[in-house]
Amino acid sequence: MACIMVMVNVNHHLGDRIELKGKVAPDAERFAVSLGQTSLDLALYFNPRFESEGDAGIIVCNLMKGGVWEEEQREPCFPFQKGQDAKMSFCFDGQQLRVTMQEDQELTFPNRLGLETISFFSVEGDIKVTSFEFK
Ligand code: GAL
Repeated sequence: MACIMVMVNVNHHLGDRIELKGKVAPDAERFAVSLGQTSLDLALYFNPRFESEGDAGIIVCNLMKGGVWEEEQREPCFPFQKGQDAKMSFCFDGQQLRVTMQEDQELTFPNRLGLETISFFSVEGDIKVTSFEFK
């Protein structure tokens, strides 16, 4: 997947929120948003798959430790559409990461790396970022 945006030294603390808006490509297969310590230590990899790796209309969440994927959490809710606007916010409360999608849908993922701050953030794949805010 092509990388759209990478931020390092982010310094996102407990209780902070990252709000991301974008436009999904009309022929999108997948995109992914990652939050962690480095590109190899991800507390949350959030990967909506429109049609990719044999999946269709599912969100795959995972963490990566030292460059190695761990067990996936697969979410059947899928509020994204090809060619449409997408809005996500990522909130980190220490115990878990909470993702709000398109205002009213939510998923949580446990902070299995035990991170206290998020210093790495990236967006990759078939989405164009239109707005990004720390709140
Ligand atoms: C793999 C895929 C990776 C990543 C990972 C998440 O199958 O090749 O790009 O999505 O799943 O668990």
